[in-house]
Amino acid sequence: DQLLAPSGPLTGRRVVVTAGGTREPLDPVRYLGNRSSGKQGFALAEQAATAGAAVHLIAGITESQPPAGHPNITVERIETAAELQQAVHRRAADADVLIMAAAVADFRPAEYAAAKIKNNNDDAAPTITLSRNPDILAETVQRRTETGTGPAVIIGFAAETGDDRAEPLALAQQKLARKGCDLLVLNRVGENLVFGREDTEIHILASESAQAVLGQDVPVHFAGGKLQAAGVVVDCAATLLSSAAA
Ligand code: CTP
Ligand code: CA
Repeated sequence: DQLLAPSGPLTGRRVVVTAGGTREPLDPVRYLGNRSSGKQGFALAEQAATAGAAVHLIAGITESQPPAGHPNITVERIETAAELQQAVHRRAADADVLIMAAAVADFRPAEYAAAKIKNNNDDAAPTITLSRNPDILAETVQRRTETGTGPAVIIGFAAETGDDRAEPLALAQQKLARKGCDLLVLNRVGENLVFGREDTEIHILASESAQAVLGQDVPVHFAGGKLQAAGVVVDCAATLLSSAAA
């Protein structure tokens, strides 16, 4: 009976999705954060679940609530990049697909002040020293290379504005090579673009081996709703996964 035995391209697969931004505490009342509504990550979790996968959604700080009550989605909340790293490390080991849609803070305050930093009017403004956070995506790719374990498909996201030296697509191509992931999804960002909105425009870039599987259409371009965009990404992941298993 088709209704009782739903099957999709990701049935029996495990997918880990990270979404939202991280928050790096400076003192008990202050933090460094970044803008991420979480919407794109939530849409990816939903589409992967609809495609039949068992989805684990690791959500940082988000504007909206993660999808609740979906039988195929479990949700874990994290705040800092260090917590995200732990969660991904634990979950990636037996996942088939990792989708890193989270906006990870690149740096954190080097020291956490246990007591609130006071506004002493007579003193000079304090300097905040930063430490670099681990690159969770690159590290997961590296572990896969070294151990042969981990997700067969690893997908990164990049929000690029472009600058006076390079176009967003060229920057994303460099980032794909630097991170070593299989797919990199480029979002063009800027004033009034992408953040918090329902619609988006993406380019899906593929590594050489992923491109060989996906064929001529790479980079895949899509403009429209975040849910539909997520569907396009999930379709690519399913195609790569079926060729990895074959
Ligand atoms: N990412 C990560 N760990 C970090 C930073 C980023 O896992 N410490 C992941 C993001 O989740 C995303 C991808 O790497 O999937 C690209 O993130 P991005 O911030 O665009 O890359 P960066 O190398 O930090 O480059 P940029 O200078 O543009 O911020
Ligand atoms: Ca970054």
